[in-house]
Amino acid sequence: MSEGNGKNPGNVTSRAHSPVPNEELGKSGKTAKLKIFRGDSEGGQEVEYEIPLVEGMVVLDAVLAIQAQQAGDLAVRWNCKAAHCGSCSAEINGRPKLLCKTRVEEYDGEEIHVHPMRAFPVIKDLVSDVSWNYEVSKAIKPFQSSEQAPFTMYEEDVERLYEPKKCIECFMCQDVCHVLRTHHKHPEFAGPRFFVRNQWLEMHPMDEADRLADLKEDNGIGFCNITKCCTEVCPVDIKITDNSIIPLKERVADEFYDPAKWLMRKIRGNESSGNGPSNGN
Ligand code: SF4
Ligand code: SF4
Ligand code: FES
Repeated sequence: MSEGNGKNPGNVTSRAHSPVPNEELGKSGKTAKLKIFRGDSEGGQEVEYEIPLVEGMVVLDAVLAIQAQQAGDLAVRWNCKAAHCGSCSAEINGRPKLLCKTRVEEYDGEEIHVHPMRAFPVIKDLVSDVSWNYEVSKAIKPFQSSEQAPFTMYEEDVERLYEPKKCIECFMCQDVCHVLRTHHKHPEFAGPRFFVRNQWLEMHPMDEADRLADLKEDNGIGFCNITKCCTEVCPVDIKITDNSIIPLKERVADEFYDPAKWLMRKIRGNESSGNGPSNGN
């Protein structure tokens, strides 16, 4: 959480990553109005702030200018100001956004409402508690291989693994997913970010762990109805639904709902639940 001192909020010394310098503010003669949630887990309300607009200013610049000049106790989480760290995720006009990647001018005359992510508990103002995600991550079986890296791998395997590795853990896909956001299925559903992580692990040719039962039972992949909202908000353009969720759903369906496999398991006495095949995924 950064707190403003009027000159360099966040104590960042690099000019490239600094907020808009004070001398730039006001040059355009235009202003921007932001309505920012102020509050904590007990509740809160929007407070309106007006600041001088600078051409090219992103919403994080505006929030930091407000923090520096009008509301020194305004809490906002940020780090890189370059869309790399995933820290500044919040909601602008009800949509998950990286504050440092969203220009104020995009809202051209519209009101700008800035709130913390709704799928997680709020700590203060724009900062939400995303620690649940790290617990989900820890529960996923880690990479397991009987061979030592470096591995010899085909180029197509490396290419397939590149996309899920781009994730910056902004958790905006988690925030937009209705299973978490609206239905609050946190105990039963891992969420799109962790289907991306599972995809990386499951598709790694040297990994030997089996996560399909976990995906079905603990990670609740069957709750996902492929709305693609997660893909739409991903700031690094991971095709979450097409490249992570659908292939994992296919694997789970092959493993658990294929009638021939089900019969073989039954014959071998490995079918513990006694449920027949269905189309649940
Ligand atoms: S596609 Fe699935 S995981 Fe993604 S937002 Fe929709 S329901 Fe959630
Ligand atoms: S998959 Fe995309 S939206 Fe989801 S946490 Fe990673 S970078 Fe963010
Ligand atoms: S501050 Fe790092 S992604 Fe926005």
